[in-house]
Amino acid sequence: MTDSQRVLVYGASGHTGKFVVDEFLRRGLQPLVAGRSLSRLEQSEGLDRRAASIDDGPGLRALLRDVAVVVNCAGPFLDTALPLATAAVETGTHYLDVTAEQPAVQQLYRELDAAARSAGTVVVPAMAFYGGLADLLLTAVLGPGKSAAEAEIAVGLDRWWPTEGTRVTGARNTATRLVIRDGALVPLSAPAATGTWDFPEPIGAQSTVELPFSEAVTVNRHLEVGTLRSWLNTAPLDDLRDPGTPAPQAFDESGRSAQRFAVEVAVGSGPQTRRATATGRDIYATTAPIVVEATAWLLDSRHRGSGALAPGEAFAAADFLKAIPDADFEAVWH
Ligand SMILES: NC(=O)c1ccc[n+]([C@@H]2O[C@H](COP(=O)([O-])OP(=O)(O)OC[C@H]3O[C@@H](n4cnc5c(N)ncnc54)[C@H](OP(=O)(O)O)[C@@H]3O)[C@@H](O)[C@H]2O)c1
Repeated sequence: MTDSQRVLVYGASGHTGKFVVDEFLRRGLQPLVAGRSLSRLEQSEGLDRRAASIDDGPGLRALLRDVAVVVNCAGPFLDTALPLATAAVETGTHYLDVTAEQPAVQQLYRELDAAARSAGTVVVPAMAFYGGLADLLLTAVLGPGKSAAEAEIAVGLDRWWPTEGTRVTGARNTATRLVIRDGALVPLSAPAATGTWDFPEPIGAQSTVELPFSEAVTVNRHLEVGTLRSWLNTAPLDDLRDPGTPAPQAFDESGRSAQRFAVEVAVGSGPQTRRATATGRDIYATTAPIVVEATAWLLDSRHRGSGALAPGEAFAAADFLKAIPDADFEAVWH
């Protein structure tokens, strides 16, 4: 591991990357900003800029010299995660990303776990709204036992104004989605199950469809869950499917959109059900305090273990969720 405390954001020119850079600055940390092209980083005035394309291994290793933690915000992660995370392991740099893509997470677990252990570094994909948040909530609810016969995760959005990156990533990721059944990852059966979920206001009661993101892979990595069902309400999928739906617009000076979300986790049934709920505003903006908090924990060695890890495996979930510094965000569980 390098002794440096430098942090580098790759994909800093993107919508999410900008929120991440701003969150570092808000916390008094000056990140290096990077991407495949220096010209795309011109808005990051006053910050050191570095560029290397994702197919340039030596260039990526040079990019990470003297860097303690790299945060990858450049998606599709099916294109960027493995090359950048490989360079990170080779240079003794911790790696975080914000992928919602299941195959990108599987690839990192498969290809880099042993090498990261040898290097004494961590590779933690999906440290984001989709993936990481549900993984942390479920880990917090399960507690030290870490096991459940059945668990459900439900994401409710009042709207979905997708970024270009979301659209490109959706088109790039054509793999059949995986769910957990009998403790193993198996293909989601078609047609996907539908249901209803009663989210907290302002989202309320919604029609849902079974639609897992990267949390199915991260949960299967470190928790003993027999059956995991991940639901998304159907209304925002209509926004996503409509090519006319605009990209997110700033609703106030924070740059956040007006989008509201709720993520719920339920374990067990009836009066014995244990629940966790996280609510907040703007799924892209909320990803920034999640991945920046993870960076802070890595910088002062509050993480656990080394290797390619799930969010709730690398970080003490309940303490981590309480620490997320976001005025709009609230997580509760019992
Ligand atoms: N899990 C979650 O909850 C969550 C939350 C937010 C975002 N995401 C994911 O994060 C990714 C970025 O989203 P966004 O909203 O920030 O999109 P965006 O505004 O379109 O930004 C995309 C970023 O990725 C970079 N990029 C794309 N392909 C690249 C490649 N082959 N090599 C190097 N850089 C590349 C772009 O660089 P240029 O400027 O050079 O084009 C840009 O910096 C998407 O995959 C999205 O799904 C996930």
